[in-house]
Amino acid sequence: MLSEKMNKAFNDQINAELYSEYLYLSMKAYFADKNLQGFVNWMDVQVQEEHAHAMGMFDYVIERGGRVELAQIDKPRHDWESPLEVFEHVLEHEQYVTSRINALMDVAEEEKDRAALSFLDWYLKEQVEEESNVGGVLATLKLIGNDSNALFMLDKDLAARTFVAPVIG
Ligand code: FEO
Repeated sequence: MLSEKMNKAFNDQINAELYSEYLYLSMKAYFADKNLQGFVNWMDVQVQEEHAHAMGMFDYVIERGGRVELAQIDKPRHDWESPLEVFEHVLEHEQYVTSRINALMDVAEEEKDRAALSFLDWYLKEQVEEESNVGGVLATLKLIGNDSNALFMLDKDLAARTFVAPVIG
């Protein structure tokens, strides 16, 4: 059984993961508007991953005899200056999510909930991967600068990303 404090911390993180899904959906719409279909695909995969992250916690709370309580999802930003600014925002957001997962693990430690700690280990590793993926795209965008041919090449590369349903926990 989850402690009340642990249950609330998981519910807050479910909201944060659903907000991430919403934010990347908003970024997908931005790229659709710019007709950059590879970036649209990249964001679409990101949307599905965030949904899986939220549902992984949703199912875990129930499995542990807790109670899922959904909260309002904030309105995400909808416009950016450039693809570079979008990816700067993505990296900043993922770093924020990493800090949230660390804080969630702190709660699990305080509550002496070893099962939750072990479950959250997957999320911590996932954050390392997320930050690394995003950092890679961001570095390429910095090199590209104003070269639109290079941007279209990157767009082609990003079209190849596929969603693989994660096995969480
Ligand atoms: Fe669910 Fe991108 O962190």
